[in-house]
Amino acid sequence: MRPSTSTAIPVADRVAGFTYAIRNIVAEARKVEATGVKIRYLNIGDPVPFGFRTPPHLVEAVERAMRDGHNGYAPSPGIVSAREAVAADFTARGLKTSPDRVIITSGASEGIDLALSALVNPGDEVLVPMPTYPLYTAVLAKIAAHAVFYGTHPARGWQPDVAEIESLISPKTRALVVIDPNNPTGAVYPTSTRRALLEMAERRGIVLLADEVYGDLAYDGPIPPMGILAPEAPIISFSSLSKAYVAPGWRAGWLAVGMSDRLDGVLAALKKLADGRLCSPVPMQHAITAALTGDRSHLISLRAALRERAEVTTRRLNAIRGMSSVAPTAAFYAMPQVKLPPGKTDEQYVLALLRKTGVLCVHGSGFGMPPEEGTFRVVFLAPPAELSDIYDQMAVFTEEFLGQP
Ligand SMILES: Cc1ncc(COP(=O)(O)O)c(C=O)c1O
Repeated sequence: MRPSTSTAIPVADRVAGFTYAIRNIVAEARKVEATGVKIRYLNIGDPVPFGFRTPPHLVEAVERAMRDGHNGYAPSPGIVSAREAVAADFTARGLKTSPDRVIITSGASEGIDLALSALVNPGDEVLVPMPTYPLYTAVLAKIAAHAVFYGTHPARGWQPDVAEIESLISPKTRALVVIDPNNPTGAVYPTSTRRALLEMAERRGIVLLADEVYGDLAYDGPIPPMGILAPEAPIISFSSLSKAYVAPGWRAGWLAVGMSDRLDGVLAALKKLADGRLCSPVPMQHAITAALTGDRSHLISLRAALRERAEVTTRRLNAIRGMSSVAPTAAFYAMPQVKLPPGKTDEQYVLALLRKTGVLCVHGSGFGMPPEEGTFRVVFLAPPAELSDIYDQMAVFTEEFLGQP
């Protein structure tokens, strides 16, 4: 007998654990938008819709690559000039790296997916910050591994506690994720913390996954790669053109595997996995070379613009009754906290804010925070005057919401 055509095709169990709140919440915003409300999208960290421009010499490099016929597949780890540019950039920043330890990826995202897939077996554990960038927990769910959260707390300026992290290591721990500068908090960790984390990873034989996507967007100037503090430590670093080079849609990123020969097997595994996906978009790989060997003066104005927006954000959010917000020192995120009435969740707050004002933020529980703690993430890329207007609306709404029984 033929099965009924009305029977839904089942999906694999692993999809259930794969959540990415930053995009999932947009479905709710679309419904509100359909009722005629103007939505202010403060949910996604993309500088382009807010008027920031990709440096023209990067656009030219991509155009030229296409015109010159670089439209075929590349070797899976990437074109030689881009790998050389990444390695030379690390070396110039104080971390000797060779091009054969660099893999060009479709954004840092693909590097993260490849690294977790290469390192972690089902049932293994990976230490992940709380709050975290949610791709880590999503990929871990997909590969049937466990995220073990280590705290970073607003009362400590969203800094991690190295002793607490070490106490969470078990025989199943395979890696430690460090996002510095941090999304979603905008925190930058002091050198002493970074050094202690590396020393611990080395001593305990776990790989440190260093997410350095925002390294050039610290307001006081670039943060050196974490690996310079312990060149022999087992570290894999991720970055991309998405944020500092204002080209997130190009999906141009890279990973660099530390020079320690303890990682040679991992490097081989990464290349083996990379073979299966052929290569990352080739014309955009040419922009990596242009970005890392060419003019970077746009970073000066970008950092200044972000610092200004961060200041407006911190000042205005802290002036709202019942709300507090740690001042970010990098990137374009803040994670304020509201004192929720008992029984309310961060998601209820964020959805009510959306429905009442059209302002779309992402609830902290989408980044792994406990829902009752009342945290949410603000992306502050809009011009300061628009931000000010948004924070006016947020103030009125929050006082009303918190006043509710
Ligand atoms: C901490 C962090 N890591 C990785 C990514 C992914 O970036 P990409 O566009 O390079 O894949 C993001 C994007 O927001 C991020 O915030």
